[in-house]
Amino acid sequence: MEAARGAALEAGRMLRSGMDEAREVSYKGVVDLVTNFDHQAQELIFNRLASAFPGHGFLAEEGLSRAEQGEFRWVFDPLDGTTNFAHRFPVFTVSIALEHRGRIILGVVYDPMRDEIFQAVEGDGAFLNGRGIRVSAVDDLNRGLLATGFPYDLRESPVNNIAHFNNFLTRAQAIRRCGSAAMDLCYVACGRFDGFWELKLKPWDHAAGVLIVREAGGRVSDFEGRGFEISSQESLASNGLIHQAMIRVLSLGKKRESGGEKE
Ligand code: IPD
Ligand code: CA
Ligand code: CA
Repeated sequence: MEAARGAALEAGRMLRSGMDEAREVSYKGVVDLVTNFDHQAQELIFNRLASAFPGHGFLAEEGLSRAEQGEFRWVFDPLDGTTNFAHRFPVFTVSIALEHRGRIILGVVYDPMRDEIFQAVEGDGAFLNGRGIRVSAVDDLNRGLLATGFPYDLRESPVNNIAHFNNFLTRAQAIRRCGSAAMDLCYVACGRFDGFWELKLKPWDHAAGVLIVREAGGRVSDFEGRGFEISSQESLASNGLIHQAMIRVLSLGKKRESGGEKE
């Protein structure tokens, strides 16, 4: 935890100071961009953790994949919220998780603009800047503030979250699209959001946040309420109390997004 926190704080501070500097932007797809800061933050985190734990494996967004020699693997997103960062919209995080035999046992998410660090170790509770956090007590979807995001293949794929978004718009109190899935999950954990759903997230987007939600007393599953894996294409996280109501709404949109229903 000390090493993960140190790496997240250092990378986050580098990103914060990079907000005002020129950045090089390149494109992985039509709307999927990456900056030189994504790469720099990845290198920094990798160097810190690999020198502290030489036998550990690594998986991170910008092409980093190293098999573990033992049982541990770090799964991290050096900059979650790249589109925001590239536009100088000050909402992004550094997200670092540690897996042991395929199970997430530690998560750290750092928001350098608000200087908020969320962390959890399996079985030990969840914390924001050192203080214990819990999910909200909202038990009615009509009173729930939800968060979501959209996949980068939104223009090409019919599995694009638009039907779900429309369905929740008229059933929840309101929806926010912040642009950092790791932050969305941490906000569920500390009760700022009551629920979150998203399609096609990658392991590094949600590995840390999911543990933090669970350790804060929340529930995480796929869109049908089944068990959640970090390779899952469906992420649903909530305070637990509105989980079933969210599953019901997601079942409406699922029929439509898989082509089972016409507009
Ligand atoms: C993205 C953010 C965003 C989510 C996207 C992710 P990136 O990660 O988490 O909130 O909607 O699906 O890919 O590309 O900024 O690291
Ligand atoms: Ca991400
Ligand atoms: Ca990223």
